[in-house]
Amino acid sequence: MPLSDFAIVILAAGKGTRLRSQLAKVLHRAGGRPLIEHVVRACIPLGARDIFVIVGHQADAVRAIVEPLGAKAIVQEPQGGTGHALQVARAALTAGKAKYALVIPGDAPLVRTETLQALAGAHRSGSAAATLLSAVVKDPFGYGRVVRCEAGDKMADCVAAVVEEKSATEAERDIREINSSVYAFTLTPLWPCLGELQPENAHKELYLTDCVALLNQRGQRVHAEIAADAQEVLGCNTRADLAEVDGIFRERKRRTLMDSGVTIYLPQTVLIDPAVEAGADTVIEPGVQLLGSTRIGTGCTIRSGSVLTDAVLDDRVTVREYSIISASRLGPDTMVGPFAHIREGAELAARARVGNFVEVKKSKIGEGVKAMHLTYLGDATIGRESNIGAGTITCNYNGVSKNPTTVGDGVFIGSGTELVAPVKVGDGAYVAAGSTITENVPADALGIARARQTTKPRWAAERRAKSAEKLGANSAVKPAMKKAKKRK
Ligand code: UD1
Ligand code: CA
Repeated sequence: MPLSDFAIVILAAGKGTRLRSQLAKVLHRAGGRPLIEHVVRACIPLGARDIFVIVGHQADAVRAIVEPLGAKAIVQEPQGGTGHALQVARAALTAGKAKYALVIPGDAPLVRTETLQALAGAHRSGSAAATLLSAVVKDPFGYGRVVRCEAGDKMADCVAAVVEEKSATEAERDIREINSSVYAFTLTPLWPCLGELQPENAHKELYLTDCVALLNQRGQRVHAEIAADAQEVLGCNTRADLAEVDGIFRERKRRTLMDSGVTIYLPQTVLIDPAVEAGADTVIEPGVQLLGSTRIGTGCTIRSGSVLTDAVLDDRVTVREYSIISASRLGPDTMVGPFAHIREGAELAARARVGNFVEVKKSKIGEGVKAMHLTYLGDATIGRESNIGAGTITCNYNGVSKNPTTVGDGVFIGSGTELVAPVKVGDGAYVAAGSTITENVPADALGIARARQTTKPRWAAERRAKSAEKLGANSAVKPAMKKAKKRK
């Protein structure tokens, strides 16, 4: 059921002092996305009335991420604490006419849609003025502790207060149930409590957590739902937290792909961004990175050390070791690498093969083409079944502009050829090895552009004889020099 009586408030204005960074906390990346993007994306399927994001530090950069996703930014300036952030959101919440607010911290990106849905549902069907998501953790250090109402009390399942680490007594510090900072609030009873907040704490801030005790004082109930998976509430306050959260995202993604039929060896060494897709029976070897919007077909093999960014691979593609593929398209049964560099705008048609130390940029490589060794193809179109010899270079840049090279079908380009663009080689033509081609080669012709060879018989033997003679004449001084060299 959509949460049409809820507004969502994501808290994302803080700096994140503990990260020691120039970059605002929620802009740091884990699992291939900025933290704030994960949180907004988790909220979208809830179908809430509004998604508000409280922004402050690097507000424009945060806004640029959240607004295209349909959220609305609200500026909190200066940042007076999590309670102050909600005060700042009050006008928008009132105008939006939602009955409830779901408050979510922008720095806890692992939270799942289903968990948020369940919390909101529990709040709506219960009688509490606030329902918070808690978690029982091994090491509660740094989190607010959930202080339950006295045992024996009629309301023993309720929450009396949330106490922050720095204000906690020794006994409270031993509590392992922590506040996730995800809350569902009924708005009417929340407003007076927010108005009563005092900055009497270590940070001189208005803490949203103090509303829990204030609601209790006003005879309202606060409930806590314990998260089934404590990992989901991990906040990213330090670089170590960030690494841990990133690791969990990566693990989730690999698991999803493996469940859909992808083989991943030594999975913990493989980095896969959230939007990546891969078909069944694709094999991913250790140390591979699959980034951005990369889409891989079925039955492909991505060998060790390869990095694919925004690449599209058809079925049965083999990417051999240590190849870099960016923003390009590899047709069915193509093979690239090892050590290939397939750059933006490259398109390989079916069965094309690009070998070691070959760079391809913004080029169309026809069906069955082979360019196996030490080659640069830029701004080129290569027809089907052509062979590009070792060390071929398209000279596509004249210092001012980029120019195209067109090679027809069934062409043979000899090794060590330079194709000075703009230039065309027609269907079925040959280019002799070592040529520097500056003029078009017509179909079925031979283009040859190199100096004729001169051979000087016995030249080398005579040179050797001459040096031996010289050495003999100078032998009185030379041995000393030789020894000196050896000692080095
Ligand atoms: C907060 C909770 C703590 C809880 C923990 C869970 C408070 C006082 N404490 O602590 O009980 O266990 O989250 O992760 O709420 N923010 C603003 N405006 C501000 C201050 C913060 O938008 O003025 C945002 C931050 O950008 C962040 C979120 O609120 O995304 C939480 O703030 P943070 O400073 O990380 O709070 P914690 O110390 O983690
Ligand atoms: Ca935090």
